[in-house]
Amino acid sequence: MNQRLPARRGNTAVRANLKYLEKRKIEGFIATDRESCRDRQQPGPRGPLPQGARRVARMPRKLQTKVGAAISARVLAEKYGMATNSFPSFTVTACGLLADRLCAQGLLTVPLRQIDLGDLGRVRPFCPDYGFSRGTPIDRYYLHQFTSQTKDEVVGETLEIGGQKENQRRYGFTRAASYRVRDLFRCSGIDIRADAHDPAALNESSLDSVVMFNILEHCGRPWVVVENVRRWLRVGGKVFCLVPNAQRIHRDPRDYWRILPDAMTLLFESYRVIRIGSFGNLLACAASLSGMAAEDLHQKDLEETDMQYPVVTWIVAEKT
Ligand SMILES: C[S@@+](CC[C@H](N)C(=O)[O-])C[C@H]1O[C@@H](n2cnc3c(N)ncnc32)[C@H](O)[C@@H]1O
Repeated sequence: MNQRLPARRGNTAVRANLKYLEKRKIEGFIATDRESCRDRQQPGPRGPLPQGARRVARMPRKLQTKVGAAISARVLAEKYGMATNSFPSFTVTACGLLADRLCAQGLLTVPLRQIDLGDLGRVRPFCPDYGFSRGTPIDRYYLHQFTSQTKDEVVGETLEIGGQKENQRRYGFTRAASYRVRDLFRCSGIDIRADAHDPAALNESSLDSVVMFNILEHCGRPWVVVENVRRWLRVGGKVFCLVPNAQRIHRDPRDYWRILPDAMTLLFESYRVIRIGSFGNLLACAASLSGMAAEDLHQKDLEETDMQYPVVTWIVAEKT
């Protein structure tokens, strides 16, 4: 049977706060809010208050925010010993700020069981091929952004680890004087077959640029690879590295890690970091994990970056 999980007690913060309000008999502020709502001819809550979270959920969004803010103000004030008698004269801005705080703490949220999962209410991806068969996989969209931003910096003797020769043209690395490709396996477009963990595979200080996209997660000891790259680079040479964060397991031949921004900083601590960053946000993570394509989303949604929800993390670092 398709049953939802039973609700836990005190399940939403709004409900919890209303209960708190009810317990403490501090309805005055809610009433003030209801008055101001009537003043502005907006549909307000009917019947006596407080009634619980459902009632809050049916209020107009602006009012929900104000009520939530008021409750949070009361709670915060009592917690931190602020004077409470000034509450009814809180300005909309102050209420808004408090509501933001309440939201940030997860205390003003959608009531339980009212989230519409829509097409995302599924346990299998839309496309088991990362979105390739639909269009541009989300992480590829961000890889393209990274290569567009860095293409003029990839210069001189260049090595791509785990790539293809044609990537020089594909990524627009036209300033690279030579473009060699090295992979664990021999396949077309590979110049050097070697494990990136092996320091002896290339001469020391022989490269100006090293490119590695979606490689480090496949390396059992990525810190060894990063140090090897430093060894192969000349002083002043740069590494351009990107790793996936919100990506399903993809063994090639193994998949060991998801390297997050802090780990990236740690891995490259012996370099001078020129730039480090992430691309993605909550929606893009969900889309990437679901096998959606970039074309399924709006560009503005793809381009909004929330560092707490990276789809990919990248770094440009220099050997000093
Ligand atoms: C997921 S693919 C990424 C390919 C390409 N860079 C891209 O973004 O599409 C990972 C590649 O890294 C190679 N690889 C994995 N471990 C390696 C290692 N230890 N040394 C060199 N190449 C490795 C794999 O053979 C594979 O070609």
